Amino acid sequence: MNPGADRRPRVVLGVGAGIAAYKSCEVLRGLTESGHRVRVVPTPAALNFVGAATFEALSGQPVRTEVFDDVPDVAHVRIGQTADLVLVTPATADLLARAAAGRADDLLTATLLTARCPVLMVPAMHTEMWEHPATQANVATLRERGTVVAEPASGRLTGPDTGKGRLPDPAEIVELARLLLVRATALPRDLASRRVVVSAGGTREPVDPVRFLGNRSSGRQGYALARVAAHRGADVTLVAAHTADLADPAGARVVRVESAEELRKAVHAEAASADVVVMAAAVADFRPAEQAMSKIKKTGGEPTPLRLAANPDILAELVAARRDGQVLVGFAAETGDASGDVLHHGRAKLVHKGCDLLVVNAVGDGRAFGTEDNAGWLLAANGSETELPRGPKALLASAVWDAVTPLLGS
Ligand code: CTP
Repeated sequence: MNPGADRRPRVVLGVGAGIAAYKSCEVLRGLTESGHRVRVVPTPAALNFVGAATFEALSGQPVRTEVFDDVPDVAHVRIGQTADLVLVTPATADLLARAAAGRADDLLTATLLTARCPVLMVPAMHTEMWEHPATQANVATLRERGTVVAEPASGRLTGPDTGKGRLPDPAEIVELARLLLVRATALPRDLASRRVVVSAGGTREPVDPVRFLGNRSSGRQGYALARVAAHRGADVTLVAAHTADLADPAGARVVRVESAEELRKAVHAEAASADVVVMAAAVADFRPAEQAMSKIKKTGGEPTPLRLAANPDILAELVAARRDGQVLVGFAAETGDASGDVLHHGRAKLVHKGCDLLVVNAVGDGRAFGTEDNAGWLLAANGSETELPRGPKALLASAVWDAVTPLLGS
């Protein structure tokens, strides 16, 4: 193929010399499979962890590490100049230090100096190295210059120890990379020192010990909201109902719940000190009026009808108990019907719920639930209406935070 005809976004995947380098292969795979052209630029020492042949086979492109490789091509300048995104994963303490100092002592750091596209660095290191004032100062310098330095996750590190400094899940890194490519600008740290609560997933209302009433929500949109908020600097609590197949967002505290009542208690407890609450969870409006203590058996006759009781509307309760300056965001999944289209129902719901912002999604026909992408409208209490074009759920999440930040007091 004529290289000029290749319209795939170009990603430079920088790989630092940390044990998490092996996870960069999964990131590389995720990027190529979602239609990106990836050139891997490891540091020379990173090849101690993963061999060049692995990166070459997975990317279909040559792997070089030094500025003196490919001299006639002036690779140390060209790779950065032609990139749409430079993603460094894992970014070790040493690599962050060299990037912050503006060094160009290998092909990757030279590329960082010539890149004019968004740069995303995903740190992974031991907790002590992450918390060291030198590393924190380097991260602050890089962020000040517009580099997006992702929040590390907490959890198991190289050895038996656990703490902050773990590489976020590869799927989360790919999601963030896609977001930066679509936004084409850095993520602002405009939620720093803000406390944010996001509910996600779908509640299950027990019928008996083995059955429940549930819904199709996967939790992906709520997780994207939590992830993007954490990377914009917020202190995030995610109240998650039945999202077992999703990796915890890096930097967020996760509270797991089952039923609408458990979600209600958890959200109210967290909302008491929150600046923003986003109700992205699909909360059951009804629960079985009685929960059988043993499994309901077939009796051979007519089945006993299930009696339902209404669950409290948590968002309405939050609106009634709103703290001064608190911003409340709701979601509405609508299909449209004979009485009006999706937007008509969304407008009515915004007024009826009394929240500041309402994200309206059209659902049905395979849209929204369980998919990677989403689209809709963002309706504000001040009357503004913004169409949210189809794109990664992280992009919709980012648009929601763009609308939330101007509503936050100082
Ligand atoms: N919600 C809530 N508590 C409930 C039900 C929903 O807080 N018991 C929240 C959801 O998290 C979401 C919004 O309210 O932010 C959805 O509004 P809702 O009117 O419940 O949507 P539907 O259930 O789709 O309502 P309807 O069936 O009337 O269209």
